[in-house]
Amino acid sequence: MYPLERFEITQQPKRQVDILMLLDEVKRSPFIGEISPDEITRLLREDAVLFFYEGDILAGLAGWNTIHGTWVEAGPFYTAEAYRGQGLGSLMFDTTVERLQRQAGHKLYAVTKNPMVKLMFLKRGFHQVRIWALPRAVQVYLLKKLTPRRLLRHVRKLRFGDSVSHFIKDGSSG
Ligand SMILES: CC(C)(COP(=O)(O)OP(=O)(O)OC[C@H]1O[C@@H](n2cnc3c(N)ncnc32)[C@H](O)[C@@H]1OP(=O)(O)O)[C@@H](O)C(=O)NCCC(=O)NCCS
Repeated sequence: MYPLERFEITQQPKRQVDILMLLDEVKRSPFIGEISPDEITRLLREDAVLFFYEGDILAGLAGWNTIHGTWVEAGPFYTAEAYRGQGLGSLMFDTTVERLQRQAGHKLYAVTKNPMVKLMFLKRGFHQVRIWALPRAVQVYLLKKLTPRRLLRHVRKLRFGDSVSHFIKDGSSG
């Protein structure tokens, strides 16, 4: 069970520097693509990000991206290293998934190569789907995101055996 009362959930960062410090950590994480300050600005504009504070310390963030129609990508999720393993990730996942499903019955897509996150999605009723079996709207979205830089990164990762897994939760899966 996560410590709900420990964290304050906000829709705006308390200070800009909090974000910059967290994004600096994200850069060094092997499990998540870099998040730029511009991306955070876009998520803020779209009301698609939540910040999790312990007092004045930004402990984590959770965001989502509209794909098309009712499809939404859950993520990015990031817990600051100092807060790992204390239930914040579960709190961020549950808060985000519940929120998205409440809003017009969104169908959720998520992608990760973090084995721990794969288990977290499965526990929350997502099911794993091969890339070619994903809904068309999600495939088109992924293709659009595939810049030459990202493609190169994917090829490198595949060479080193990192496996990316795709998940969906579309209402038929609990
Ligand atoms: C994934 C991430 C958000 C999880 O955050 P967290 O605050 O550590 O998560 P929690 O403490 O709630 O733990 C989540 C689950 O992992 C388990 N877990 C936590 N630390 C673990 C560890 N070191 N080894 C094995 N399992 C672990 C917990 O028991 C929990 O499982 P449960 O749901 O069965 O209780 C965090 O590790 C992170 O930011 N990682 C780097 C970025 C990333 O991979 N983001 C996701 C991209 S989609």
